[in-house]
Amino acid sequence: MSHSSASPAPARAVKLAPSILSCDFSRLGEELQAIAGADWAHVDVMDGAFVPNISFGLPILAAARRASNLPMDVHLMIERPERYLRDFAEAGADSITVHVEATQHIHRAVQQIKELGKKAGVTLNPGTPLEAVRPLLADVDLVLVMSVNPGFGGQKFIPASTERVRTLRGWLDEVNPQAELQVDGGVTPANARLLAEAGATCLVAGSAVYGADGGAAGVQRLRDALA
Ligand code: DX5
Ligand code: ZN
Repeated sequence: MSHSSASPAPARAVKLAPSILSCDFSRLGEELQAIAGADWAHVDVMDGAFVPNISFGLPILAAARRASNLPMDVHLMIERPERYLRDFAEAGADSITVHVEATQHIHRAVQQIKELGKKAGVTLNPGTPLEAVRPLLADVDLVLVMSVNPGFGGQKFIPASTERVRTLRGWLDEVNPQAELQVDGGVTPANARLLAEAGATCLVAGSAVYGADGGAAGVQRLRDALA
């Protein structure tokens, strides 16, 4: 089935989740329409405490929800996210991803997200050992590998992240093969295929989608890189 020369295409279709962090917020509705050909909209919430930056919160998620039919994939970079899970669910999140470093009770946070009827994701910073998420793998819908230190768009991909994706792919295949394996930070057309081949099923991209000539072209460039 596979071609002899090029590396084989990844077995699973890879989802694209453009991050609206890099869009023009004065044109949020149009910027969401521009990525209508993507799979999910990635919504980066930052509190200025867990990460050094403040992005936006509930009203922007609610506005994005009204302006797009895409599933809203909410990445909470906030301390003690359990305080706000219900609010984000009610504001329109379809999936909610929390950091293992941000709460004393990550398993409880995952349970709460599922009780709210939303997809539960868990993530970890580049400096956190993968073992920190291993006990949760059977219980989550999504695992996110951060491939930059969270807080800002437009940072450079950390190369060691690819091996982390490969390791998690193996672990997930043993206990929860249906779970999404997502990568976030410095994803570009140049590394997208490598990440898919390592086992990622969903790629987040901010500056690579919105940076150059608009969201629609950015989504297409990533699709082409994965074809
Ligand atoms: C980083 C955010 C990312 C960010 C990605 O803290 O979680 O989602 O927007 O942006 P790029 O693709 O520009 O690295
Ligand atoms: Zn993110």
